[in-house]
Amino acid sequence: MAQRPGRVLVSRGEIAARVVDLGRAIGREHGQRPPLLVGVLKGAAIFMADLIRAIPVPVAVDFVGVSSYGSATRSSGVVRLTADLSSSIEGRNVILVEDVVDSGRTADYLRRNLETRDPRSLQVCTLLDKVERRQVDVPLDYVGFVIPDRFVVGYGFDVDGLYRNLPEIYALEDG
Ligand code: IMP
Ligand code: MG
Repeated sequence: MAQRPGRVLVSRGEIAARVVDLGRAIGREHGQRPPLLVGVLKGAAIFMADLIRAIPVPVAVDFVGVSSYGSATRSSGVVRLTADLSSSIEGRNVILVEDVVDSGRTADYLRRNLETRDPRSLQVCTLLDKVERRQVDVPLDYVGFVIPDRFVVGYGFDVDGLYRNLPEIYALEDG
């Protein structure tokens, strides 16, 4: 059965308002030293672009790529780094920027991986938190929205590579 975007789960206005809150919260904690925001490609690229413009203090930006094998809507839990950081994070205050924390495996893998590189601090910021689906406990420092166990598309979220460009977050539906 074909799957397509159904109803809006988080609207454009709700996203914009929450991104402003998150940006201010990061600014409050990181006014002394510019943090390095590390976005997780590809899903978090759109959130990252909005988030950094909502942070009222200087920040630096980098990206990592990950892939997890599995079906379109369920990850296998086997995470692999497909693109690495462009520079050292030793001694930096790092904020990992995720689109969604679902089972928690990707964020946990990246946390452990980055921790071995001796950052000064390491925090996690995620736009969405599917807390009901968690299998690995991973500490989250900044959370946009806690959402129910629904597969979402839009605002960076894809199914089979599509729908990342939609401006709102939709629940994926059959039909
Ligand atoms: P986790 O490793 O199970 O926490 O899954 C995290 C990754 O699975 C995310 O970075 C997304 O790439 C993908 N993912 C989880 N839920 C969704 C969703 O609802 N829509 C699109 N991608 C998702
Ligand atoms: Mg992702």
